[in-house]
Amino acid sequence: MKPKWPPHRDRDAPTRRAALGLIGGALSLATGSSSAAPGSGLAAAAARAGLVFGVAADSEVLADPAYRALILNNCRLLAPSNSLKFAALQPEQGVFHFEQGDALVGFAERNGLLARGHALFWNDYPPAWLQNKSSAELATVFDAYLDRVVPHFAGRLHSWDVVNEPFWLGRDRPGTFRPGPWLRAFGEDYVERAFRRTAALDAQAKLVLNEAWTECASPVGLAVRASLLALVDRLQDRGVKIDAIGLQGHIMPSEPWDEESFAEFLHALSARKLDIYLTELDVVDDALQGGVAERDGAAADLTRRLLKLALDIPAVKMVVAWSLSDKYSWLRNPWFTSRKHLSHVARPCPFDENMQPKPMAEAIAGAFRGARG
Ligand code: XIL
Repeated sequence: MKPKWPPHRDRDAPTRRAALGLIGGALSLATGSSSAAPGSGLAAAAARAGLVFGVAADSEVLADPAYRALILNNCRLLAPSNSLKFAALQPEQGVFHFEQGDALVGFAERNGLLARGHALFWNDYPPAWLQNKSSAELATVFDAYLDRVVPHFAGRLHSWDVVNEPFWLGRDRPGTFRPGPWLRAFGEDYVERAFRRTAALDAQAKLVLNEAWTECASPVGLAVRASLLALVDRLQDRGVKIDAIGLQGHIMPSEPWDEESFAEFLHALSARKLDIYLTELDVVDDALQGGVAERDGAAADLTRRLLKLALDIPAVKMVVAWSLSDKYSWLRNPWFTSRKHLSHVARPCPFDENMQPKPMAEAIAGAFRGARG
């Protein structure tokens, strides 16, 4: 009999040894049996620990039946990775395209998945037409965008990343606000303005401030943590509704990692009465050495360590993989790979390009099973 992924759909399911034995084996469920209930795999293990497990994915979900089945078998939530971004929704001034976003949110709705909005404002990747605008023009574009986009999706999204990556991630001035059109429009107040206006337009979605690099104990990561806490304090002092902090969780083996200080940071966030979502989990594995088995093992270990620590914190409510399968990882995009001299093809995700589980999938399942016992 072919073993099924995931091995632990029931409380009395097989032992860990058996589960590990499945990794690398021939699997049926992963590639597309439609018999499983939506979210019955990793998502079911997550749900037993009071967590939502989901995936960031885009048009490939609609195009690839095997990937779609993998997602439906393992996820409770879908976050379109690009189709709800500013440049996708308004590629030209005044011209809005909701087709792809609606298709993905509709797919989620029809299949019993929650949908997440990513992201209203991000100072990275602005469309070209914003480039030469004055700050007054940008301010008008900003408000009009919210007024159009938030009501369009209101009532359909579990959460909105209202602002993505507020802080600069460069080594030159870590922890300062990331430059871009929205900072130009209102200065630092753009964050408060975005949260207030979104709350007024959608009373239901959880409003999230999403940030990168906080997992790293590098000077950049530490500066971003401090800036993020200060920003949260400022917003909360001013009575701004903010429901959750999204920590991206692109695990970077090349950066220093310090469990104690990261745990302190998570405690500091939860002391502010905020939920915490891990929004973009994957392993940026270009710095990992060795063959496939060694690299996959190392990626699984790093994932296990991060999740073990994070899931100890009750405020952590959600884990979202930034692609479930290596096949669709952004770290395989030519624009990413062409910037680096890579010795191997990226394997950042829990499942491989054939939708088969990797040790990282078992690490995630194990972390869910071991959490909040
Ligand atoms: C990435 C997408 O995955 C790519 O397809 C796109 O070309 C660039 O953006 N942090 C984020 C995400 O918040 O929006 C980024 O997504 C990955 C890093």
